[in-house]
Amino acid sequence: MRIDILTLFQDMFDGFLNSSIIKRARESKKVEINIHNIRDYSVYNNKQVDDTPYGGGAGMVLMCDPIFRAIDDLKKDNSYVIMLTPQGKTFNQECAIELSKMEHIILICGHYEGFDERILSIVDMELSIGDYVLTGGEIAAMAVTDSITRLIDGVINKESYENDSFNDNLLDYPTYTKPRVYRNMEVPEILLSGHHENINKYRQQEKIKNTLKKRPDLLEEKNHEKI
Ligand code: ADE
Repeated sequence: MRIDILTLFQDMFDGFLNSSIIKRARESKKVEINIHNIRDYSVYNNKQVDDTPYGGGAGMVLMCDPIFRAIDDLKKDNSYVIMLTPQGKTFNQECAIELSKMEHIILICGHYEGFDERILSIVDMELSIGDYVLTGGEIAAMAVTDSITRLIDGVINKESYENDSFNDNLLDYPTYTKPRVYRNMEVPEILLSGHHENINKYRQQEKIKNTLKKRPDLLEEKNHEKI
């Protein structure tokens, strides 16, 4: 899997690319992540990438040309181009699973007050990470890249994501580690029993309880899907 990210703020990705699971996944060549500065694709004076909006209004608008040139340069037959914007489809685990099966993804980080609408003509999908507005698409691109990368075969232990929250529209079950008693709070007895079948049953029940308590909307969604 290859992910190319177009941004005006390359530095923001330094810590992300060089820490933890993303670092390991890159080093073991499970994923190749390239960060490109949109400014490098500008042929205007002073590497200009944005301009004032036609019709007036506040702020600067990301121009078409640097983005079109970048996509011309990076896009292959197997590429899927995504624009990060608060107006996009809301990202979720199902979407992460679908994207993790792709060979090449190009993520465009929008910035400032917006982008020239004509950029959407070369975009396969607009994606948002939630109903709030960030200063730019960089944090969204990191969130999307992170959740996709951990699903790529061999990046993390399969067991670690088989029980992920949101699989089957259920949240995860609660987990505990040592010590067995902490400030009078005890680990549920069943987890100490060594009886794997009972533990699995208990965990399945806890997933449903947890979801009913914290995210009942997920169970409603599941029922709707059945209808
Ligand atoms: N850019 C600004 N806000 C965003 C959001 N919520 N999701 C994706 N990209 C964004």
